[in-house]
This record gives sequence, C-alpha cells and structure tokens, in this order.
Amino acid sequence: MPTTPAPAAASRLDVMNFLNEIAGDNPQALSFASGRPAEAFFGAQEYMQRIPEFVRHLQGRLGGSFDDTFKQLAQYGRTNGIINELISIQTLRDEGVASEAGHVIVTAGCQEAMDLCVTTLCREPDDVLLVRSPTYIGITGVADINGIEIVHFSCAAADSVADALTAAIRGARQRGKRPRALYLVPDFDNPTGTVLSRAEREAIIAISAAEGVVVLEDNPYGMFRYEGTSEPRMASLDAHGCVVYLGTYAKTLCPALRVGFMIVPPTLFGDAAAAKAFIGAVSQAKSFVTVNTSQIAQAVVGGVLLAEDLSLARRIVPAIAFYRHNRDAMVQALQAEFGADAGISWNEPQGGFFLVLSLPFAFGRAEAEICTRDHGVIVMPLSFFALDDGESHRVRLAFSNSDPQRIREGVARLGRFVHGRLRGG
Ligand SMILES: Cc1ncc(COP(=O)(O)O)c(C=O)c1O
Repeated sequence: MPTTPAPAAASRLDVMNFLNEIAGDNPQALSFASGRPAEAFFGAQEYMQRIPEFVRHLQGRLGGSFDDTFKQLAQYGRTNGIINELISIQTLRDEGVASEAGHVIVTAGCQEAMDLCVTTLCREPDDVLLVRSPTYIGITGVADINGIEIVHFSCAAADSVADALTAAIRGARQRGKRPRALYLVPDFDNPTGTVLSRAEREAIIAISAAEGVVVLEDNPYGMFRYEGTSEPRMASLDAHGCVVYLGTYAKTLCPALRVGFMIVPPTLFGDAAAAKAFIGAVSQAKSFVTVNTSQIAQAVVGGVLLAEDLSLARRIVPAIAFYRHNRDAMVQALQAEFGADAGISWNEPQGGFFLVLSLPFAFGRAEAEICTRDHGVIVMPLSFFALDDGESHRVRLAFSNSDPQRIREGVARLGRFVHGRLRGG
C-alpha cells in the first residue's frame, strides 16, 4: 500500500521538481544535469516509416489486408507485448543475454519494468529493496512512492561490493527484514559512470543466489562503450536464475517511445514454476497499470529492429562517436580548468553518459542553485542520488546531450564558481 513518504523519501522525490524549476527559471543556463540522449540521432522521418513496415511484417505472419492488420495494431493488445521475439534476438546479439521470448515482457520504458519488478517482489511489510548508494533516482522513487523500505550500502568503506552487500543483507535480516531484490546498473552506472568487474558480478550473483535475492540488472548504457572491453552482462553469467535483466530503447532510439522491457530468467532460483508465476504476477499488475505498452510505439521499435537485422550495434556507431567526443571534450575541459587544483578530481568513464567530479568542499542543493543562478550552469549534486550523507562533495556531470563548445563553456562557468569558493567567496 502506498504510504505518505518519510521525510528523506519526500526530499528524494522532490529532486525532479527542483531540477525542472531551476532549469525553467534559468533558461540561459547550460545544463549538465540530465542524461538525455542527443536529439541528433532521433530518426525524424524514419520512425514514422517503420510503422507501415512493421504492419507489413505482421501481415506476412498473420495474413489479412494491410488495413485489417493495422487495425489490430491500433486495438488494445497483448499485455506482455508484441515484439518480444525481436527483443529476445536483439538482446542476445547485442548484449549476449539469451532468453525465451515468453520470458520477455515489453514495458512502458524501463521505468515501468523497475516498478513492476519491485512492487511484485516486495509485497510484504518486511520486504526490502537493496541498492548501492548513490543510485539512480528512478528506482528509489519506485520504492518511496510504494512505501517499500530501501536498504542501502556504500562501497566506499567496505573492501568490495560483495562484502558491502553481504553486510547489508545480514543487517537487514537481523532487523527481521527480508531482502527481496537488489538493484544495480553494472555498466556505466547512473550516477557514477562506473563499471563492475566480472569478478564483482560473479560474487554478487553467488551471494544473491545463496540469499534468495533477485538482482535487477538495469542496462541502459552498456552499448555505449567508447573504448576498452565489455564485461559480460550479469544475466549472461547467471546460472542460478537470480538475475532479471532490464532494458530500454530510450537511449538507443529515443525516450518518447516509452518502450523498455524485462527479461525473466528460465527459472527463479532453479524453480521454473516460480519464474512463470513471477511473469504471471507482473503481467497481471501491468494489465491494471498501463494495460499494454503502446503497440504503435512497439511497431516503431519492431520496425527499426527488423530494418537493422535485429542488432542496434551498427546503428549506434555514429552516436557512440558523438558521445565519445563529448566525453573527451569534458575530460579535457576539466583538466584545463581544474588540473592545477589540489583536491579536485574526476573519473574518465569508458562509456555511458556521466562522469563524477569530486570537490574539496560540500556541494549540495544550495550550491547547485547558486551555480545555476549566478554562473549559468546546472549540475547535479551526488547527494541527490545518495541514501546516506557520504556524497556531499561530489557532483554528476552529464555530457550526452551537449557539444564540445557548450561543454567547454559550461566547465569554465563551473570553474568560476568553484575557484570563487576556493578563494573563500
Ligand atoms: C539507470 C537508468 N535506468 C532507467 C532509465 C529510464 O529508462 P526509461 O526512459 O526507459 O524509463 C534511465 C534514464 O535516464 C536510467 O539512467
């Protein structure tokens, strides 16, 4: 049952409003705040053309006239989706995640997949969701609006993610809680840009399997790797039936489609009936929330997937080059602006949309406001994503929906604020 959020939850839930408001009040400000994909790669004419192509594909399978097939597409449809098979093949080709089409559920964006998983898994008052801190606010928001307790662990103090996770599970059990799900973004994490190593992934799977915790592996950014070698997806390493894989076409195609998906493993902890029961419960819940994911939007995605021979790897090559260029511009601008400053550092992610800047002073909501109002640059304090107070000095910078010139200017503006503060201003 949704409850009135606790004060901490209420403040987490307020982050999006805050950002919209400062962006609205300061339209001249350059923004590194949101991980929006670059609009240059939205196929304006193309997406529309994919709908009739997909209808013709359906027509080939079902028979009947083009008009009748379109009318079926425009009707209410199957709760779990109509492009499950195409997604199943694409995720195998692009991500190495094998699945049965019947275990793919097409959702209204990844956000709905997160909501359905968390609310289906955490039904009892003692059920808790495990997250790393900091983490993506989309997942904490789901738990908060549904009154589900979040147990967080930070990796800063512990030796490893596995140790921190084990301690969090033990601590929760000692309080009579039942950890049911663990949410992770193993590839180019939002907000930190970090990647879990293969050894960390394997250790997390082993712990989760032993503890009966379902891992929700969220992977919107994994295909956006700019150099280096990919780690295997956790779902592809999972031999226990404990990883549910979450995906989206928001970054590879465009967010407005609102098409995402979840892939349920063949068994849940070795139990095939439990996996089927989970799919049934998710599907039942979805049938009362979004009824089905827009079939027109699924037709666009399905049409693109068919046109791309069921792999998006080649299609996103120009986007990868664009984002890499932006990442390089941001790293160079940070080096030029802060390279000589003691106590300022940043990571250089090999992919994804974000990096994190560490500062020698606290940077929270008030500093974000001053930066926007007085210096014309919007950044996200990492404390907005944190569940403890360990992130007071770090800031997330998104470089995805920008260009090198705006990145240089934005970093110079941020530099004026930071250097002013360092001089005691
Ligand atoms: C980690 C993560 N998961 C999920 C999403 C949202 O995906 P969708 O737009 O498909 O709901 C985002 C969007 O920024 C994200 O960063």
